[in-house]
Amino acid sequence: MTSYTELGLVNTKKLFEKAVSGGYAIPAYNFNNMEQIQAIIQACVETKSPVILQVSSGARKYANQHILKNMAKGVVEYAHELGYDIPIVLHLDHGDSFELCKDCIETGFSSVMIDGSHLPYDENVALTRKVVDFAHSQKDYVTVEGELGVLAGVEDDVSAEHSHYTQPEEVIDFVGKTKVDSLAISIGTSHGRAKFKPEQCTRDANGILIPPPLRFDILEEIEKKIPGFPIVLHGSSSVPIEYVHMIEKYGGKLTDSVGIPEEQLRKAAKSAVCKINIDSDGRLAMTAIVRKILVEKPEEFDPRKILGPARDELKKLYMHKNQNVLGSAGRA
Ligand code: G3H
Ligand code: 13P
Ligand code: ZN
Repeated sequence: MTSYTELGLVNTKKLFEKAVSGGYAIPAYNFNNMEQIQAIIQACVETKSPVILQVSSGARKYANQHILKNMAKGVVEYAHELGYDIPIVLHLDHGDSFELCKDCIETGFSSVMIDGSHLPYDENVALTRKVVDFAHSQKDYVTVEGELGVLAGVEDDVSAEHSHYTQPEEVIDFVGKTKVDSLAISIGTSHGRAKFKPEQCTRDANGILIPPPLRFDILEEIEKKIPGFPIVLHGSSSVPIEYVHMIEKYGGKLTDSVGIPEEQLRKAAKSAVCKINIDSDGRLAMTAIVRKILVEKPEEFDPRKILGPARDELKKLYMHKNQNVLGSAGRA
């Protein structure tokens, strides 16, 4: 049993309070390996941004929980060595059972998401409340994110064909009964690099897909019901077209890619949305550079010369998000 404070981590409580009142969002970046976590920390230290390091259950299987825990501990020391101590949260992304959340809490996670969004409402409430009771009764308070409404696309083992927007009428009851610390909502974002079907989009003069706007009207309704309560947006990659083109130029095939425009995320970050989840954009950046190097330098076989430049590109991407999209730069 390890408490997150022993690892030098923090929970999301104060970070979210400050983000909601300050009109910005904390980046929640997923990681599975060393290069990703290094890039996240370098970018967040350099931009003086707080950060949430997210681990999905797939990532946990891929990397091993003991390794992940010690990576988180390691990057707290790494940030210090880089010259600036930023608040770092280790968060379980899309936890699907009480046992998984408990396990993560006992290994040193400072925050967990219990995703009961695909369950009938009462079952979602009961499961979420069970996780909250356990998390909040720890010696060091662990924060919990719940979800209401379903995002289209794949959430680990849970996948949905269509999104079901969050119903504003339900949020007061859900937050009151579960005692969650933050609430993920569905207002039109979705997971992955193809967030909308082409028939849901229009096209610009160059044939690039333009997605339908997020449902800010639903977000406003929710904010009226639970003023100042921390809201989370999943599925918030922008799917930069430059990376898609680079990947395709060097042999990849990513048909009909489309993400959430940065302008809309900027707008969301100014509201009670205080955590914005980004995974796919990092995958695209890494893949684009890896493909480019493998094609342009066929003699290269040192992984450091392939993954090192990919890590540099990732850092650039995260710095851009913190500074120009989420507004988290300078808030650590
Ligand atoms: O929401 C899903 C995240 O992008 C994690 O994806 O389950 O493939 O690790 P993953
Ligand atoms: P993206 O697929 O848009 O990056 O979303 C990631 C996410 O929501 C992780 O929980
Ligand atoms: Zn998600």
